[in-house]
Amino acid sequence: MKNFFSPNQYDADQLGYFGQFGGSFVPELLVPVLEELTKAYEEAKNDPSFIAELENLYKNYSGRPTPLYFAENLTRQLGGAKIYFKNEGLNHTGAHKINHCLGQALLAKRMGKKRLIAETGAGQHGLATATVAARFGLECVVYMGAVDVERQRPNVFWMEQLGAKVVAVEHGTKRLKDAVTAALQDLIANPNDTYYLLGSALGPHPYPSMVRDFQNIVGREVRAQHHEMENKLPDYLVACVGGGSNAIGLFNDFLNEPDVKMIAVEAGGRGVEKIGDHAARLQGQGKLGVVEGYKSYFLTDDDGQVQPTHSISAGLDYAGIGPEHARLFETGRVHYTYATDDKVLAAFKTLARTEGIFAALESSHAVAEAIRLAPTLPKDKTIVVNLSGRGDKDIFIVAEAVGDVKWKEYLKTKSG
Ligand SMILES: Cc1ncc(COP(=O)(O)O)c(C=O)c1O
Repeated sequence: MKNFFSPNQYDADQLGYFGQFGGSFVPELLVPVLEELTKAYEEAKNDPSFIAELENLYKNYSGRPTPLYFAENLTRQLGGAKIYFKNEGLNHTGAHKINHCLGQALLAKRMGKKRLIAETGAGQHGLATATVAARFGLECVVYMGAVDVERQRPNVFWMEQLGAKVVAVEHGTKRLKDAVTAALQDLIANPNDTYYLLGSALGPHPYPSMVRDFQNIVGREVRAQHHEMENKLPDYLVACVGGGSNAIGLFNDFLNEPDVKMIAVEAGGRGVEKIGDHAARLQGQGKLGVVEGYKSYFLTDDDGQVQPTHSISAGLDYAGIGPEHARLFETGRVHYTYATDDKVLAAFKTLARTEGIFAALESSHAVAEAIRLAPTLPKDKTIVVNLSGRGDKDIFIVAEAVGDVKWKEYLKTKSG
């Protein structure tokens, strides 16, 4: 079972600290709730029947293992290292997020919880939570800023079809951080029957370690698949990094392998020079702080107020980064870089035309980095890129960005 979660030398201590990052900074009323969760998770992860049930869901509900695909055309076009894609977009619901949603829903059920709650910005995490709630017969409430509810009708529609209640949060800026506050208030009011399902490798202890564990399957599969195809370890691993779940999922199983290099790609937006233009927390402007219950780097002002961020991809448009990534950055084990929106869009188009794959705009950040990196390396090296999700969900953004007039006309006809 130890192998299932691949413990590594960078892991958190008993209190959830990855070096100086992480921990648990929550209102007193939530302390027992998190203690209960930590205990339940420790028990579950050492219980073979829990692991067996999770493996069954990965395989038969989500469709794992996802393929590791050799991108022959793209490799030939770039003329350098061999590029492989770990296609997490082929999971049920179209992204890696289902891995940790299944794990947490299974845990919630084991703990006897009756309700799942979540906050969501663009709606993707809400959708994944509503999906597993339906699967496990749990009530589901998703908090979403009123502004986001207006902007994200397709995801709100699907959450409702799955039986979830979407609550439009009308206070504050009516955006993601107000949705977080509302979800926490719900948890404080309903500690006994409610499970707060977090959407990335962040938040207070034990969430960052637990979400990483549930995503570890990605790297474990890559290790075996790459070995079968290349008879060696990969030379480079590349993933985009929002909160950090898909990147740590790919990296974790290899952290103890000094020869495997790792690159995580943040959202460079319109450029990383000015706060408000990007979500690249580790490129100089991020400050050490405590936000949403954990210590890490955040894009804040001098008073610790979270600043607006921008990215072409909603999933990377977040001011903080998970604490384990902050630690891996500090130690230099992982290299953190960024890709700007224009490079991301170009990478999206290149992948579609060379390999017939629509990658999510989040994942296209990693593709952009691979396109930059591959020609600088010899042909016997390999790069594994995590395609964390598929691009279908991004149809509105891509159609707008490429200036497709017919798409606009189509929307008008539909709304008329
Ligand atoms: C497809 C996809 N990739 C990546 C991310 C970024 O999240 P994380 O850094 O937790 O993988 C998201 C977030 O919504 C996503 O939907």
